[in-house]
Amino acid sequence: MIFFQSFIRASFILLITLFSIISYGQERVIENFNNQWRFARFGAMPDGSILKEPKDLDEPSFDDSDWRVLNVPHDWGIEGPFRADLPNQTGKLPWAGIGWYRKVFKSQKSDVGKKIFVEFDGAMSGTSVWVNGGYVGDWPYGYSSFRFDITRYLKIGKENTIAVRLDNKEASSRWYPGGGIYRNVRLVKTNPIHINQWGVFVTTPKVSPKKATIHIKTDIKNGNKAIEVLHEIFNNSIKVAEQKTNFKNEADIEISNPKLWNLETPNLYELRTTLIQNGEIIDDYKTSFGIRTIEFTASDGFLLNGKRVQLKGVCQHHDLGPLGAAINVRAMERQIEILKEFGTNAIRTAHNPPAPEFLDLCDKMGVLVQVEAFDVWNKKKVDNDYSILFGAWHERDLRAMVRRDRNHPSVIMWSTGNEMIELRQGQDAPMALRLADIIKSEDSTRPTTFGNSRPEAQTNGFQKTTDVHGINYKPHLYEEFHKANPNMPLYGSETASTISSRGEYFFPVNYDNKKQGSGGYFQVSSYDYSAPNWAYPADKEFEAQDKYSYVIGEFVWTGFDYIGEPTPYNKDKTNLLNFTDPAEKAKMKAELEKLGGNIPPRSSYFGIVDLCGFPKDRYYLYQAHWRPDFPMAHILPHWNWPERVGKVTPVFVYTSGDEAELFLNGKSLGKRKKEKYQYRLRWDDVVYKPGELKVIAYKNGKKWAGETVKTTKKASRIKLSPDRSVISANGQDLSFVTVSITDKKGETVPRTHNSIKYNIEGPGEIIAIGNGDPTNHESFQAKERKVFNGLALVVIRSKKGETGKIVLTAESEGLKSSKLVVISTSI
Ligand code: GAL
Repeated sequence: MIFFQSFIRASFILLITLFSIISYGQERVIENFNNQWRFARFGAMPDGSILKEPKDLDEPSFDDSDWRVLNVPHDWGIEGPFRADLPNQTGKLPWAGIGWYRKVFKSQKSDVGKKIFVEFDGAMSGTSVWVNGGYVGDWPYGYSSFRFDITRYLKIGKENTIAVRLDNKEASSRWYPGGGIYRNVRLVKTNPIHINQWGVFVTTPKVSPKKATIHIKTDIKNGNKAIEVLHEIFNNSIKVAEQKTNFKNEADIEISNPKLWNLETPNLYELRTTLIQNGEIIDDYKTSFGIRTIEFTASDGFLLNGKRVQLKGVCQHHDLGPLGAAINVRAMERQIEILKEFGTNAIRTAHNPPAPEFLDLCDKMGVLVQVEAFDVWNKKKVDNDYSILFGAWHERDLRAMVRRDRNHPSVIMWSTGNEMIELRQGQDAPMALRLADIIKSEDSTRPTTFGNSRPEAQTNGFQKTTDVHGINYKPHLYEEFHKANPNMPLYGSETASTISSRGEYFFPVNYDNKKQGSGGYFQVSSYDYSAPNWAYPADKEFEAQDKYSYVIGEFVWTGFDYIGEPTPYNKDKTNLLNFTDPAEKAKMKAELEKLGGNIPPRSSYFGIVDLCGFPKDRYYLYQAHWRPDFPMAHILPHWNWPERVGKVTPVFVYTSGDEAELFLNGKSLGKRKKEKYQYRLRWDDVVYKPGELKVIAYKNGKKWAGETVKTTKKASRIKLSPDRSVISANGQDLSFVTVSITDKKGETVPRTHNSIKYNIEGPGEIIAIGNGDPTNHESFQAKERKVFNGLALVVIRSKKGETGKIVLTAESEGLKSSKLVVISTSI
């Protein structure tokens, strides 16, 4: 009898197991669709020639065997070459033109009866898609995520051909956009009854330390009353709540003792939603979310879970420096790590929706995000920008943005746009309202905003079209705005725009920010006073933020340098307007004339860190102010000035302390104390003598931090320092290797520009090399490149499934070479 019972139980378990295997076979299938595409370019080619686009490239019969085979994410623009004749506004790279991607893929027999979608997280730009020669659809905006239902074009169980045409129009961007399928692509297979794309929306309407109510809206395609919906909530893989309902679009689930999402401990939950029909699972869908409250006030700033958080934000374009626009999760994570290190707690995705992985990272790393939709509306900034699409596409693009990103706890605001030309006329407020309404209809839990550059739009009614007001570059108008709109929360949507080149210092120092300090070959001085005529140094914004406690925070232009927009050397007619000092202007004019307009700069000077992520001096100015409890002191400039012996060479100190004493070769140059609204300490009349500069910083009368800068010996060796010496052999992971030129004692030698040759062996490849010099035209993909002011960056990527030692060697004439081992592991 006992045996019989066990037999029955065992059979039952077996049956259940079999049943669940069968049932689980009915769930959605998500297939990575990134690999083995064939690629070719037409139209404007990288070398400047024009190649006619053949006909019938969408046809399966077209012979693409001589096309390049590659995996996406891919950015064809970053492959270069830099071309003097291309606009420096978009990086002098050949991103414009037509690109085709084709791929043959097998549909499984089990696809019968399924819905098959191809999902693009973003393709730059003007995407059109064909499957087996049948036109599927298009999506022109390069920053939107979209998908197509390709079911009816497929040959089930057979080989199929997908063809994707992208068309990057010239003059369609104000910065480097990249080109290609630069984000992930996947195939999604579902049952006819399924959860729609981005079809689960989680909000947390009630949150207290004891209990949180999780509200879930589920958008089910072809649903009917027989469908049951199971919601299960997990925290760190442990189930904390579940609810099963009959076919119903909305559910409320309570969680006791919720772990809130905040910046210090960004706790996340996962919701697994399962559709069940006649006891069988027919779809499952995972949604990551956080439990937190946000509140924007007009007098007490921004509150996260009831506590004020001042937004210490930066604007970021989407490129990953030398890696270009093609997304890579580790590269984005590194960017956020660097931003956080100097105190950033918020990012504005200027001026477009980001890659979805970027927001996943912000969720995990505890960073607040303002997601922005557009740089223009109907009125253009450059000839072929989004203005030509706005009328037909703005609603679809806005809905795609909000639906995709509305579950991210990091996202706190939606921006309808940046400095739209319409603000000038003030007559398009109805359009502004309509955009805000579209956003609200998708998500009413977050405020809308826009970046306002026009003083008249602070009072002419435009300011009322969104919930929170962002002012670009006018801290002197905060008071006026607040008085005119006392109930409207306010922040600096774009601030500072200081410009500098890492490690460049020009004399005499210009303390007037309107003078550019262009003492060198298209570089900008790093004494941190230079700014174009609409902009100003960081200190001025700090002062306004400190004075006006109602201001929610700021977003500095920008965290990282980006490719394109090399103001003040932006060549076009506005270039000279950036120089208000007549002498500077004349000097610039002469330089420009000499070059006949083709000036070298191709990436920005705005970054707090350079294009490679190396700190400029400003990094420490922000760190000192944004991380007041982090003991630090930073001295500038470097102390290698053989030609300045006996000359006045000002020294600045950025410290989170309140006082500091500077010593030159052991002799005190005096103590300086920060006055109210003073953010840097200056010793303006230091006379240069080689040796050692040392600073001791104090806080509340106690020693707090120190730094020493030495005149180095001559350059003698190459040093390789990886950010991580063990990486995963997943074909995606990266090691970022800092290359420095040092003297015998290991001190980095500033002002060195040696050319270094790299070689790599083992299961890794060099995918990019950069040095942070905005004027450099050596390819990011060349294996021999110069350092810029002592530093370069080599990016190594693992090879999928290949483990072992990756060996990087670096050689340069006259320097001791160097070797580095990075381990690629399957763990
Ligand atoms: C702003 C604009 C940004 C960038 C910046 C440079 O006016 O919104 O996109 O161009 O100027 O300072």
